[in-house]
Amino acid sequence: MTSQTPDSSLGQVHIDLGDRSYSIAIGPGLLDAPATYAHLPVATSALIVTNDTVAPLYADRLTRALESHYPRIHLVSLPDGESHKTWETLNLIFDALLTHGCDRKTVMFALGGGVVGDMTGFAAASYMRGVPFVQVPTTLLAQVDSSVGGKTAINHPLGKNMIGAFYQPQRVVCDLDTLKTLPPRELSAGLAEVIKYGPIADMAFYDWIESRMDALVARDPEALGHAVRRSCEIKAWVVGQDEREGGLRAILNFGHTFGHAIEAGMGYGQWLHGEAVGCGMVMAARLSAALGLVDQAFVERLTALVRRAGLPTEAPVLDAKDNVGRYLALMRVDKKAEAGEIKFVVIDRPGHARVQSAPDDLVARVINTSVRLP
Ligand code: NAD
Ligand code: GLY
Repeated sequence: MTSQTPDSSLGQVHIDLGDRSYSIAIGPGLLDAPATYAHLPVATSALIVTNDTVAPLYADRLTRALESHYPRIHLVSLPDGESHKTWETLNLIFDALLTHGCDRKTVMFALGGGVVGDMTGFAAASYMRGVPFVQVPTTLLAQVDSSVGGKTAINHPLGKNMIGAFYQPQRVVCDLDTLKTLPPRELSAGLAEVIKYGPIADMAFYDWIESRMDALVARDPEALGHAVRRSCEIKAWVVGQDEREGGLRAILNFGHTFGHAIEAGMGYGQWLHGEAVGCGMVMAARLSAALGLVDQAFVERLTALVRRAGLPTEAPVLDAKDNVGRYLALMRVDKKAEAGEIKFVVIDRPGHARVQSAPDDLVARVINTSVRLP
């Protein structure tokens, strides 16, 4: 893929999915500008779904911006954290929709990070068999990845994002100003998903990330704006070709097979999703090298960049007695696995990825090489 920006003048990235197409608005000052929410479906009510951390920061501002569009605006605030991405929390959204008498035209707004976005999207997909929703992502990770593309889900204790639906939002609103209040650890987690787009699709973007990593960590607005925009363009390009992950879209899961095992194995919320993906990308790069697809220099280059983003590069021990066995068991629950055979996203040349299986002994070697010794 080339590094051209198809629509760089407007602060909008378009995702082309026929009658499910929508735009991603990117820029500062969008959250509380009423114009941001013009031309959405007409409804008598809106429900803002957020969480207990984000609500005090941004819920009033979003409510005011929506007042000229919807006569009734309701709000439900969920407990914060990956450990709450569950049926119980999802039910709080349905409770709010039903308690407020929301009808099938009600527009839902997901205000928060990927956890709020994934759960709101799933609730929107299933309430009255589907109501419109808008993503208003407030973490870097959500702006560059989770709010775009229509994957919605909750976790199951046996596997991450195992219960969900493909359901596209009506619009995505990435207000770059919201990133100013993000804790540093969460910013780093988002950078993992930004880095991801380089090895799988665009090494020119990867070169740019390397050259601007210090600015990204320092939250330079111009650097963050470009990172969000280019990430969304690449994601829109992939999803536009393969909305329901029949093939190509799986490359967006680079680092996620190992990463999901780390998240589930440590207990959801111990390692942030982006931290697990950062370490998982290093492990997936090592696997790519072990398969003879990339050289060791590529692995070292990626490891250094992940580290500069403030992310872990050494894998945790998930089971003191049988660590490799535990990793393998968790990875067999991954959605890409087929008949128990684990599939990995590997880099077959820098800037290009594919999905394939790998011999267990090779995977075991990668896990053993990657593990942080206590
Ligand atoms: P998150 O939603 O837990 O948010 C991280 C933390 O930041 C939370 O404590 C949140 O309350 C807080 N926060 C959010 N915005 C803030 C702000 N502006 N200022 C201060 N604090 C703020 O985590 P995340 O990293 O955004 O998302 C991770 C989730 O996204 C995971 O569940 C992952 O599975 C999912 N995900 C989904 C997709 C997809 O395609 N649907 C892709 C990648 C990740
Ligand atoms: N984050 C992976 C995907 O959207 O497919």
